[in-house]
This record gives sequence, C-alpha cells and structure tokens, in this order.
Amino acid sequence: MNETHSPADAQSQLDPIAILDERFREAIARAFPEAAGKADPLIAPSKKAAMGDFQCNAAMALGKMVGKNPREVATAIVEAVEVGDIAEPVDASSIAGPGFINITLRGEALAGLLGELAGTDLGLPPVGSPQKVVVDLCGVNLAKQMHVGHIRAIVIGDAVARTLERLGHTVVRQNHVGDWGLPIAMVVDYLHHENAAGRLDLDTVTLDDLDGIYKAMKARTGAGRTGLRLAQKWDLGPKVVAELEAEVADADDAMARAKATLVALQGGEQWAVDLWQRISDITMGACIDACRRLHTRITLEASAGESSYRDELAPMVDDLIKRGVAEEDGGALVVRGEGKDPPALVRKGDGGFLYATTDVAAIRRRVQDIGASRVIYCVDVRQAMHFRQVFAAARKAGYATTPAGIEASLEHAAFGTILGTDGRPFKTRSGESVKLQDLLDEAHDRALAAAERSEHVSTTEREATAETVAMAALKFADLSTDRVRDYVFDFDRILAFEGDTGPYLLNALVRIKSIFRNAEERGVGDAWKDAPIRVEHEGEKQLAMSLLRYPSVVRAVGEHLEPHRLCQHLLEIANKFSSFYQVCPVLKAEDDATRDSRLRLCELTARVLEDGMGVLGLPTLERM
Ligand code: ARG
Repeated sequence: MNETHSPADAQSQLDPIAILDERFREAIARAFPEAAGKADPLIAPSKKAAMGDFQCNAAMALGKMVGKNPREVATAIVEAVEVGDIAEPVDASSIAGPGFINITLRGEALAGLLGELAGTDLGLPPVGSPQKVVVDLCGVNLAKQMHVGHIRAIVIGDAVARTLERLGHTVVRQNHVGDWGLPIAMVVDYLHHENAAGRLDLDTVTLDDLDGIYKAMKARTGAGRTGLRLAQKWDLGPKVVAELEAEVADADDAMARAKATLVALQGGEQWAVDLWQRISDITMGACIDACRRLHTRITLEASAGESSYRDELAPMVDDLIKRGVAEEDGGALVVRGEGKDPPALVRKGDGGFLYATTDVAAIRRRVQDIGASRVIYCVDVRQAMHFRQVFAAARKAGYATTPAGIEASLEHAAFGTILGTDGRPFKTRSGESVKLQDLLDEAHDRALAAAERSEHVSTTEREATAETVAMAALKFADLSTDRVRDYVFDFDRILAFEGDTGPYLLNALVRIKSIFRNAEERGVGDAWKDAPIRVEHEGEKQLAMSLLRYPSVVRAVGEHLEPHRLCQHLLEIANKFSSFYQVCPVLKAEDDATRDSRLRLCELTARVLEDGMGVLGLPTLERM
C-alpha cells in the first residue's frame, strides 16, 4: 500500500516485536552487509517461558545465505545487536540449539512503552499524510428484501471505514445501491397499473410486498419460453402450446411495458419518478434502520446508487470509443484487459448499459471527482471476476488516476458466504434466504431470553442490554473470521459468553470497569491515575506485551483490510487480562504503589479494549 509513514508514526513504534525486528535487522546489516535487506530477523514468541519472551530465528536461513555455520552467524548477530534499552543484554549464553537467540524483555522498558501508549491517542496519532478513501459497502437493491449476505457488506464495510478513520484518513462511505435498470422499471410499471386500477394503496405498500412483486415480475417476463420450445419439440398438443403461447405473449407485453417505463424514468416523467422514489424510500428506510441497529455509520447520505450514474454512462462510453479503449465485439462493446480474464462488457448489443458500465463510471467519479487515492469494495467474493474486469477497464481508460496524477489503489475486500450449521448457505427451514431483519430480531430475542432476570434492572434496560449483546455477537461473529472464508453461523455459539465471542469481549470490558467502581466504594481516591506503571510480575508482563501491540495491529488492519486480526488481538488482550487478574491482586495488592500501578494497567486495558471495539464498530456497555 502506498502508506506514508511520517516521523510521528516512526516515533510511536511501541510494538516490542517490531522494535526487536528493527534492531535485529540493523544488526544483520552490520554483521553481514551482503545480506542486508534480504534476511528476515524472524522474531517469534518463545515456546517455553524459561527461554525468554522472544526468539530471533534468523541464523539458520542466514547461515545458508552467507555460507556459514548458523551458530557462528548467531554469535556475530548477538555481538552486533543493540537491545539494551528494551531487553536484557544478549550474548553467547543467549544462543540455543542450532542458533536460536533468546530474548527477555525488561520490565522497566515495557513500563516506559506503556507510559507512551497511555497518551491520548493510544499510540495511534493521525497519519502524517492522510489519504482520501472511498469504501463501497452495503450495496442493497431496491425492491428486494435484505438478506443475511448483506450483513457482511454492512458490518465489514463499516469496520474497514472506521479503521481507516481511526488512523486519520478521510473516508467516504458509498452505498452502491442497485436502484436502476429494467427490473426496477418492472416494479414501477406494476405499481403504476395496479394503482390506476384501484387494486393497490401506495401508502401501505411494504418492502415484503415489493419483494413479492419483484419476484413475480421477473418470473412473468421470463415465463413460458422454455416450456413453449419443449412443448413444440415434444408435440404436446395444441392446447398446451396455446396456453404457453399466451404466457409468452404476456411476458413480451410485460417486458415491452417495462422498457417503456424505463424510458419514462430516464426522461424524468413525474409519475414514474414518484413511484421510483416511493420504492426507494421503502427499501432505504429498512436498509438504514438495519444499518443503525447494527451500530454502523451508514446513513442515507452515504448512498450513491446506480441511478446516480445514469446520465454519465452514454458520454463515458463515447469517450471510451473515441479513445480506442473500448472495441466492438459481436455487436457488443467491450474493454479488453491484459490478462486472461474475459473483457468487461460495457454496452450490450441492444445499446443497454450494464452493471460493469456503472462500476467503471463509479471509479471515475470516486478517483477523479472525489479525489480518492484508494477505493475499497466490501463485496461478496463471488464478484471477484467482475471487479478484476472493471478495475482493468478503468485503469486502461485512465479513470483510476487522480487529477494530481496519482494511480489510485483499487481493492476488492472480498468476503465469503455465511453457512448454516449443515455447512450449506444459511437458509430458513423452508429453504428461503434469511431476511436480515429476522436475523437481527432473532438474535435480540435469544439474547433477551438468556439474560438473567434481576430486580435491579428495569425492563427497558434489559431490552437495551439484549440489543447490545445481540448486535455485538452478530458483528463479532462476522468480523472475527478470515474475511474471504465462508463461516458457519450458529446462534448458540456466537451468543455465548464463553469462547471467542462478542459477548465475551463485552463482558471482559464491563468487568474491568467494575474494578474502578469497587475502588471508589473502597475510597481509594484518584491519586493512582498519576502513579507510575510498573511491570514486574509475569502476569503484568504478558498483558503489557499484548497491549503494546495494539497500534501495530490496527495499522495492519488498515493496510490489509482484515478486521479479524483486531478481533483476535482484542480476545488475546482480554485473555491476558484475565490471567493477570487471577495472579495479580489489584485492590488487595501488597502495597499502595503496586495497587496504583495495577489500577493503571486495568485502566489502560479498558481503554485499549474500548478503542479497539470502537474501531470494529462493536457497541459496548457500562454494566450488564
Ligand atoms: N447491488 C450489488 C449486489 O447486490 C452490490 C453492489 C456492490 N458494489 C459495487 N460497486 N458493485 O450484488
């Protein structure tokens, strides 16, 4: 990625692994100039605590590279390396086995780094040169019910956007709504006729109704054709053929009317535009409501639907032809890429534009008008080919170059399918796709049913807590697995308070916060907030090392667009905290200085967890 690291970023290097990596890299360059830049220090956590905290495993590969025995290489590295400020000195006695170098971090050094981490920005000051980034997310379609797949485009898209915002970039969320074309025109046409005939009340139409109309219209326009061909071939008799012919005629009629309606829409005829607007309001109302429930920052303002490009397509295609970027192919117009992929189809034989045409126009607007130097698509992996074609076409046309001449990075942050516990795409018992709203409601109901009833908690508060737990559970499940992989959706597992779940994380944070309430009740006062942090006990050290990695994990998520890395890291921190808390008493510590230092560790852990959950877009609770 064309990430620019300003000096401020360099100063904020707190990650012990990254620091060691840098020091050993420098040592290798000094000891073996011929291998400089080629040998990886291979810093890894130690397998056994007795061996120290980390190992440098570079000597083996480096030995081969420079033609020396690995132990000799390790000896040269320990002589050249400077780690005194962060680790115990390394020397010949640090070398083990064939040439591993054991490293033990110093508690005072970790305490110093924690002091820096505790600054206002938790080791993540805004990047020196922020990028403008467009994140394409959500992508619902008008007149269609949102289903379970959309949760991924919403939740992952928003988490990616939040990560980049946290790093200091300027993010524009764009919901590329499927709101244009013949299928929508069919629904408009249907509403128009039924309304005129007095059979339909536009004010009471729901998204479910629209979804039904959409499906019926698609079935109707495609009806009869295959059947008719077979009936004629197998000579099924005049009655069957006549019936099917009538169906086909009806389909042709419906199609012709839809085309006429599309022309009316395109021409801005008021009746058509009004109906389109009604369909859009109904669909987007439900969409934005789900986005809000899912605790995302996707609002109506973020919509830049396919319809918003409609007037740009014809002139753009003319431009592609004029400059020889697009070429005729069997009546259609295509843009050929360089690799093996089939070309992008930008105009059909009948003159109509396609999904790909709009996406090429979207890149042009995003890069050249909005000025994005990075455009990220959070879309199903099954569209991978589509995006490769579209990216190639846009680059070839020069549309992916900013006015300042910067080649924008176009990235498909693809995600896999949500599977049921049977390993097949997640469906209802009757085999239909699961409505997003039903999924959210069921998660809520289950969380509510599982909540303990206590007299101290009002019904409203219990409802609110259940909603938070449910949304955190759904989102964490969606974010915590490797993005491109399919994952199995199992309500029981994701809502559990044990295991790698959202509720576990929520609860971990709530429990840390309760320590401060206890401290207050015990009259501990506030002085601990300025106390120095000490890292002496192994439990403190383990926690410190995880906390210090937080900034580099968030940066890695921003670079690779993999929120699961942060999910896993927050779980690690929660686990390290729980081990620390078991072995290191806080309020009952042996002396006040230890107590105060541990209170500060608790506070820092809570801040990091809360910040990280904010980056992922997970809602949090004060108590539960
Ligand atoms: N509406 C599309 C679909 O349901 C998703 C849109 C994704 N974004 C894009 N720029 N193509 O498949």
